[in-house]
Amino acid sequence: MSVNRCIQITPVYVNVLYSKYLKWFIMQTRNFASSANNPLKMPDCKYVPSIYKGTNYEDMIKGYESIVSPSLKPFYKEPLIIHEGRGQWLWNHRGKRYLDMFGGVATVSVGHSHPKIVAAISNQVSKLNHVSSAYMHSRLYEYVTKLIGKFSGKLGVVYLTNSGSEANELAFLMARLHTRSHSIISLKNGYHGASYGTSASTAMSTWRYPFIAQPPGYLHAVYPDVYKGNWGGSKCRDSLVQVTGRKCDCRENECIASEKYFCEFEETFCFSLACRESIAAFVAERGAVQYPKYFLQKVYNYIHEKGGLCIADEVQTGFGRTGEHFWGFESHGVEPDIVTLAKGIGNGFPLGAVVTSTEIAKSLNSALHFNTFGGNPLACVVGSTVLDAKEESLQQNAQTIGTYLLNQFATFLSEFPNVVGDVRGKGLMIGIELISNIETKKPLKTEHMLEIFEVIKDMGVLVGKGGLHANVLRIKPPLCVTKTDADFTYAVIRRALQKHEEKYRI
Ligand SMILES: Cc1ncc(COP(=O)(O)O)c(C=O)c1O
Repeated sequence: MSVNRCIQITPVYVNVLYSKYLKWFIMQTRNFASSANNPLKMPDCKYVPSIYKGTNYEDMIKGYESIVSPSLKPFYKEPLIIHEGRGQWLWNHRGKRYLDMFGGVATVSVGHSHPKIVAAISNQVSKLNHVSSAYMHSRLYEYVTKLIGKFSGKLGVVYLTNSGSEANELAFLMARLHTRSHSIISLKNGYHGASYGTSASTAMSTWRYPFIAQPPGYLHAVYPDVYKGNWGGSKCRDSLVQVTGRKCDCRENECIASEKYFCEFEETFCFSLACRESIAAFVAERGAVQYPKYFLQKVYNYIHEKGGLCIADEVQTGFGRTGEHFWGFESHGVEPDIVTLAKGIGNGFPLGAVVTSTEIAKSLNSALHFNTFGGNPLACVVGSTVLDAKEESLQQNAQTIGTYLLNQFATFLSEFPNVVGDVRGKGLMIGIELISNIETKKPLKTEHMLEIFEVIKDMGVLVGKGGLHANVLRIKPPLCVTKTDADFTYAVIRRALQKHEEKYRI
């Protein structure tokens, strides 16, 4: 073959080359433009997103306020239209690139538009999209078999749902049927969903509507926060970063704070339950607030003695996010009776699950139970591919990068002691609590928090905010983030905190 035939420069080829390089040039200029006011260099990314052709920004802003539920409040003074995503990167409608350190609220586990998930969905959608549970399909069976393989002991039955709220709601139902008791006990400041029952188990005023009576049968116990609560010391957490400024005299294998919090937990039974009333279940999530060591073990033992079941809400902590273990509960040395899953399970695809024992699962047989979409073939292939993608060492990455990032953020405690009150977390699930008073730990004023939040975004990093007073920066990125991404995130948040201190002369 002659050289000429190999590289024939046809007009079509020139056109392709031209549009490809024009697109590349536009993207580079945009990224350069964004970094012109921003001397912190964003990590490179080879992926070139498509040009946005959707509704224009102004129409979208107006439309969101009028026809999309007004209760939805997108982040930022100028809300972002996110147009495309790849791995740990997101692009807005103008082609500006952002490092996604929030992962759609800890949901994007294996990375945006993961090529294997794209392929699995495309393949499945062309064959079978939906059948309902009236028929069997092998995708469901194969997926459930694979998911059960991630659990040990009695946890051998899976019900598939579409969300975390549905999973928790179903878990409550099973626990009630199985124990023939009604009360569900949860921890204050925990979030379990937005449906009627799960929002009643969510003990946070911010998630409560006025005038709406809560359904009966939900109790809220102590919030064992070793940073702000009554008790806590410098050895309480199962984490590299401990609370600062609190001494701890506990001996090896002892945690006085957890005993104190447990006594308070026990009081709920004395004061809020009828004398001989039994309990259906205890439910706890483990977000970025870390309970003191042994606390969950004590509670699980107590609940089991009382004939209740223990539900581990793994909606955020599951699928390797905490690095050390695949499931968050494993680091507490407890064995739940029911585990609920969502978010990372589907990398953004609506999927949830309840995993339990055969005996507990059978309780649902006393009536009909049905979920139209739960376990549909598309969801099952996505869930299955997420489990396979985990073999890309993402849990290990969560451990390595999470530990690195946590240690970096921990330096804020001494660099910005008047603004950063606490840094906590495990793996790629990290919280940075911002305060306005080091003694009282009073939350940073909302407007100051929002300013910091905006500056971080303007420099190209998306993080979340949370906590009862929305004063906690939440870092829960896709598990594929790199060390360079971690360095960039640290530098950006540090710069935002510096700017805050300069502006308010702290
Ligand atoms: C710990 C936890 N449980 C349950 C839920 C509810 O999940 P969903 O929003 O999928 O209904 C969430 C959602 O944020 C969560 O974080």
